Amino acid sequence: MPRQLFVTTALPYANGNFHIGHIMEYIQADIWVRHQRMMGNAVDFVCADDTHGAPIMIAAEKAGVTPQQFVADIAAGRQPYLDGFHIGFDNWHSTDAPENHELAQQIYCDLRDNPGGSLIESRTIEQFFDPDKGMFLPDRFIKGECPKCHTKDQYGDNCEQCGAVYAPTDLINPYSALSGAKPELRNSVHFFFKLSDPRCVEFLQHWTQDGKLQPEVANKIKEWFTVRTNQDGSTSEGLGDWDISRDAPYFGIEIPDAPGKYFYVWLDAPIGYLASLKNLLTKRGQDYDAYMANPDLEQYHFIGKDIVTFHTLFFPACLHFSGRKTPDNIFVHGFLTVNNGEKMSKSRGTGLDPLKYLSLGMNPEWLRYYLAAKLSARNEDIDFNADDFMARVNSDLIGKYINIASRAAGFITKRFEGKLGEVSEDGAALLHLLRSEAGAIEQLYEAREYAKALRETMLLADKVNAYVDANKPWDLAKKPDQEARLHDVCTVCIKAFRILTCYLKPVLPALATQVEAFLKIEPLSFANISQPMATGHVIGSYQHLMQRVDIKQLEALFEAPEPLETQQEITHPGGEAIAPPISIDDFAKIDLRIARIVDCQAVAGSTKLLQLTLDVGELDDAGQPRLRNVFSGIAGSYQPEQLTGKLTVMVANLAPRKMKFGISEGMVLAASHADEKTQPGIYVLEPFAGAQPGMRVH
Ligand code: 2FM
Ligand code: ZN
Repeated sequence: MPRQLFVTTALPYANGNFHIGHIMEYIQADIWVRHQRMMGNAVDFVCADDTHGAPIMIAAEKAGVTPQQFVADIAAGRQPYLDGFHIGFDNWHSTDAPENHELAQQIYCDLRDNPGGSLIESRTIEQFFDPDKGMFLPDRFIKGECPKCHTKDQYGDNCEQCGAVYAPTDLINPYSALSGAKPELRNSVHFFFKLSDPRCVEFLQHWTQDGKLQPEVANKIKEWFTVRTNQDGSTSEGLGDWDISRDAPYFGIEIPDAPGKYFYVWLDAPIGYLASLKNLLTKRGQDYDAYMANPDLEQYHFIGKDIVTFHTLFFPACLHFSGRKTPDNIFVHGFLTVNNGEKMSKSRGTGLDPLKYLSLGMNPEWLRYYLAAKLSARNEDIDFNADDFMARVNSDLIGKYINIASRAAGFITKRFEGKLGEVSEDGAALLHLLRSEAGAIEQLYEAREYAKALRETMLLADKVNAYVDANKPWDLAKKPDQEARLHDVCTVCIKAFRILTCYLKPVLPALATQVEAFLKIEPLSFANISQPMATGHVIGSYQHLMQRVDIKQLEALFEAPEPLETQQEITHPGGEAIAPPISIDDFAKIDLRIARIVDCQAVAGSTKLLQLTLDVGELDDAGQPRLRNVFSGIAGSYQPEQLTGKLTVMVANLAPRKMKFGISEGMVLAASHADEKTQPGIYVLEPFAGAQPGMRVH
């Protein structure tokens, strides 16, 4: 019976692009999913943007756009990474989507109305409030002097200088990191999920200790049932209740029957897994409730070791006590460091920029292979090391595996019209040995022991290479009486290559597709591995399957960008280097038009923006001139009356953007220095006389 699996990776915060840590997690999960599909199992593999919370709300405000627009902009940049590294999610959704609002509210109501007694409680707590901003401040946005070592400008939760952990109220001379104002202590009603309720404790003790979790994860969790560290660094006994509400203004999901109260982002984030699945099923015309009610459904979440509490305590408890299915397992991985560097910073990432990797023409499957060769089922950290990367790809992947095909295929094509021949006993024994490892390798993939699966596969490749070295097809080719043996040996190589490709396919899907085309065979799976290519089967001509890593690529990958100062002094008076080349087709995508500034107004509440009304020569359905509304950050350089009536150039096909003050339908072109602080000034472009609104700029 095929299994039915629902698999996710952690939902990334929608406040930045992916870094290599995200890509590692997606590759780990993607390999597992591909393996499951090759076993004939059905998998739904989903992810979404984690959109809510104060940091994203504040970042959006700084950028002058609505939080919705802010997260939409981030979401728009996701696909090149996923496509680039062959990560095949079935759906990408958002925790701000209607499905998630609805599910989070339902789950909350079910917890509140639990027949065995409510698991939600409200309590009044004291919290810092920023009187200028009119909002309660998250700990990260309160700064002050460390109460222990007296270092200034430390965060509200711990001191970066001496490492002390404390509550924000312990800070000396606290101030708001948002406005600089002195925060006031104010009371607020918060909602708590009663994790300390004996029902929860009993359920979680069993759920976390029944043997499904990784042993190192289960052991760590065990400690949390006995002691817990409070916000001020002191300790208490047992599981503490969980504060699940935040006060307006907050970008999040409204709590039912509690005006002005929102769910804390971590309440609705994991529910986003379900929302993304529901969205996928709806698109397919499948019923979500029926899908979740299937007793055979297996649910798995790949996550990093820093978010174990949320996934092994809060999430399962919320699901269980709201009458829902709980995950079958949580797969925890460690952090990725780069060239022995510091731990991946969640927000900055480090060292290895995934898009730069792709733009240098580096093969994404090199990275997939390298990471797989280091990944195990344990949550230990792994290091990306440039020398090791080059060695593993060039010596193992290419030297041991790809070479098997390149050594044999030419003879089959040139000497035997592409036809496979008979295999004699020694070759048959080798192929039998290769096939007999299928079960073991399948199990290693299943257990997420990818490093071991690849090691086993490379040991088999070694055996094939030993067979090639013993039989020396290049010598056989010189002896006319050895024609049959040459055919035999090369056939064995090609058949062996097919089996090895099957074992590597979860890790190297694109390469496997190329190999399938070259061998002219059906898509490889663990089910058809024992149906070998027949004698007389014609293969295609060998095309180079994979390049070696060039040291220059690695050097370029880790080359630090030139410091801005040297660039601007020596080469670029504009303060930044010329961007990488684009094609004429890339340029043609940007539709630049002459526009008349029909009206220009200051924007109340903004010192940066001017609101322009532009005529680009367009007509509406009624044949009346259609005017565009554009916000432009040029208020520092122009008075509205200086611009009214002038011609300029605008990007006419930029997707509309929701700004804080309204929708902006394009962008006007203006010049500025890269370093706005030391060299301020923005200069709007104006065409030579004769240009008319609506003309295209080429
Ligand atoms: O730690 C993080 O990056 C979170 N955005 C992960 C959320 S996982 C799930 F709960 F949504
Ligand atoms: Zn300190």
